[in-house]
Amino acid sequence: MIDTKTINLAFKAGRNLFYQNFYMKTGINLLKPTNFYSIINEFCNARCKICDMWTRNKIIDLPAEIWIKHLESIHDWLGRYYISFSGGEPLIKKDFFNILEFCNQKGISCGVVTNSIKIDKQMAEELIKLRVFNISISVDGAKAETHDYLRGVPGLFDHVIEVVSYLKDAKEKNKVPLRIIFKTVVNSRNLEEIPDIIRLVEKLGITGVMFQPVFKWTEATKNELWVKDIETLDKVIREVIKLYKNGSPILVSQDTIQLWRNHFLEEKLEPKRICNIGLNNYLMQWDGKVFLCTFFPSIGNLSETKAKDIWYSEKAENIRKATINCRKTCLNTCTSKKSINDRLKQFFQLLKS
Ligand SMILES: C[S@@+](CC[C@H](N)C(=O)[O-])C[C@H]1O[C@@H](n2cnc3c(N)ncnc32)[C@H](O)[C@@H]1O
Ligand code: SF4
Ligand code: SF4
Repeated sequence: MIDTKTINLAFKAGRNLFYQNFYMKTGINLLKPTNFYSIINEFCNARCKICDMWTRNKIIDLPAEIWIKHLESIHDWLGRYYISFSGGEPLIKKDFFNILEFCNQKGISCGVVTNSIKIDKQMAEELIKLRVFNISISVDGAKAETHDYLRGVPGLFDHVIEVVSYLKDAKEKNKVPLRIIFKTVVNSRNLEEIPDIIRLVEKLGITGVMFQPVFKWTEATKNELWVKDIETLDKVIREVIKLYKNGSPILVSQDTIQLWRNHFLEEKLEPKRICNIGLNNYLMQWDGKVFLCTFFPSIGNLSETKAKDIWYSEKAENIRKATINCRKTCLNTCTSKKSINDRLKQFFQLLKS
């Protein structure tokens, strides 16, 4: 099932690559954001070891109308675009489906990153009917014991497998494309299961798997879950690259997989590697703050200012320049750069769905 939305999005991403080169050579800013992210809430119904969202105070929850107004300002400026909704757990925000409905009416493609706890057969149907572009389910183990331990929710692994069948059935019944993606955070507890997660994705016949090496957020990520056994890491990297070269549906590039080593050794990137996050990304947070990269100050507030004015503001321009010079070994799939290789491989993988 080929979806023209995928072609349209790829065209816009390609055009921005041209604008990026032009900007780097001349400093003239014709850039338009191509990667929109919304960290829509801080609420969560899981108890993950890798993330502290579920421990927070949960005070701010912007109503759907404010989100919709800002998403409309992006649409007025750029036409159709792709946005990924994450959180917290986006599917427990009470008015979240109003936002999905608005996006569907406007032809805005939506991705949803979820722990899948809330998805039952009925919700799977709803997501399909709202023409959601992709559902990315966090899966942190190839077996129940590992996934349920890392997510702090007994029975969640078996539930994820059921959710995949609900989504596949609803997709088949309604004859609409939907990319079902697993999203795995690589850490010491699941490192040796990574090849099996890839095999599981193949067995389930879903679109693919994205990997993200764990960031140091919680105490567990700094100690228990940080990969210190570099020999095993090297062995896993070799095996994953072999699967990648044999055509397994891995949605990150070979280069990115190799960089897991630098990430866990906390090595700096070589100076020739330039981060292009500030040239593409527009990340919105639950409290209205907008960022190019969350490691840098906010560039504006979505409740107060239209997207175009935020993007071309002096503040955004200064932070953009700082992100280009940033030398963190940052491999954040939510917010960081993608090479041309990543994009092409992802494009063809998404076309198949
Ligand atoms: C914060 S969650 C929000 C969406 C949803 N609750 C979920 O878990 O899929 C977004 C993504 O960040 C990942 N994540 C959480 N903690 C992380 C960490 N310490 N390092 C890297 N990725 C992390 C999650 O696994 C998930 O794929
Ligand atoms: S990773 Fe997702 S599911 Fe886990 S605590 Fe964080 S927001 Fe919740
Ligand atoms: S390298 Fe990472 S921290 Fe630095 S600007 Fe890029 S995404 Fe942000």
